[in-house]
Amino acid sequence: MTRSILRRIAERGLEGLGLGARQALDPARTARTPQAPLRIDLAGKTALVTGSSGELGRVIARTLAACGADVALHYFQGRERALALEREVAALGVRCAVVQGDVSAADSVRAMKRAVDAALGPVDVLVLNAVSQYRWQGVLQQSIEDFESQYRSSVAHSVLLTQAFVPAMVERGRGRVIGINTECAMQAFENQGAYVSGKRGMDGVLRVLAKEVGRHQITVNQVAPGWMVSDKFRAAGTERQPDYERDVPLRRRGYDQDVANAVAFLASDLAAFITGVYLPVCGGNVMPAI
Ligand SMILES: NC(=O)c1ccc[n+]([C@@H]2O[C@H](COP(=O)([O-])OP(=O)(O)OC[C@H]3O[C@@H](n4cnc5c(N)ncnc54)[C@H](OP(=O)(O)O)[C@@H]3O)[C@@H](O)[C@H]2O)c1
Repeated sequence: MTRSILRRIAERGLEGLGLGARQALDPARTARTPQAPLRIDLAGKTALVTGSSGELGRVIARTLAACGADVALHYFQGRERALALEREVAALGVRCAVVQGDVSAADSVRAMKRAVDAALGPVDVLVLNAVSQYRWQGVLQQSIEDFESQYRSSVAHSVLLTQAFVPAMVERGRGRVIGINTECAMQAFENQGAYVSGKRGMDGVLRVLAKEVGRHQITVNQVAPGWMVSDKFRAAGTERQPDYERDVPLRRRGYDQDVANAVAFLASDLAAFITGVYLPVCGGNVMPAI
């Protein structure tokens, strides 16, 4: 420490350094060194994963449950897949419930909220994962109905679900919102205009929300997968795979579990001071500039 800093401390105490004495000395702020190996522990938390019947959703839901969270498994039309997942999750010894709904329709989201509240109580971790199927088409060819459908499954989804579930987080002074975005939103691949527009809109909603609810200790982040290997793709690659892998700095595709790991981290207390982040999980394929 330089002589002038020591003199300022002697004359004016720690406040002379611009630190409130309480802030500098409060053990709750300073004694954070872990005494045991870090682990992701979500026991006592309740999560809702939209699109749990889908490829990534089922792995995210299973992973949160494996970390100890009670989980609401949401589906739209894939009831059988949701029920199969329910059996797997229940075997992990946590509470779970299956809820159906259209994430782009306000009435349906309100009904989902009532069903989750009745089965598991308030949600601590809201994972916005569902997305409607999209048609690969150029902007000049794609119908406005396709754009609207993607808008609703990304933007309306983010707005309606957070309006339904975040007020209870505000009341309790804690919560996590995690949007599943995509590397495509930064890459702007051809023929993905509708998909990219919806995800860019979701990004806008969630960044603003992060500012609006931060004071309540609610964090709002996004995980942006690359083109992941999941059950659907596990059996065989496609002809695009070698081209894709050539451009990825890690020279391979990642796995559904890589996405779920990032979600579990952001859901946990380990990530309590991280908000407003867009976290690519894509082997370096996109690198947001600071
Ligand atoms: N897979 C990848 O490589 C990849 C890459 C980048 C980003 N992502 C993102 O990761 C998320 C999951 O992708 P995925 O590949 O796992 O998708 P997926 O297998 O197609 O699953 C989509 C899920 O969304 C649900 N859904 C569709 N329309 C809905 C609606 N109107 N209301 C409620 N739920 C609806 C589906 O429910 P039902 O099946 O029950 O109808 C399904 O559970 C998406 O947000 C996607 O953009 C995925």
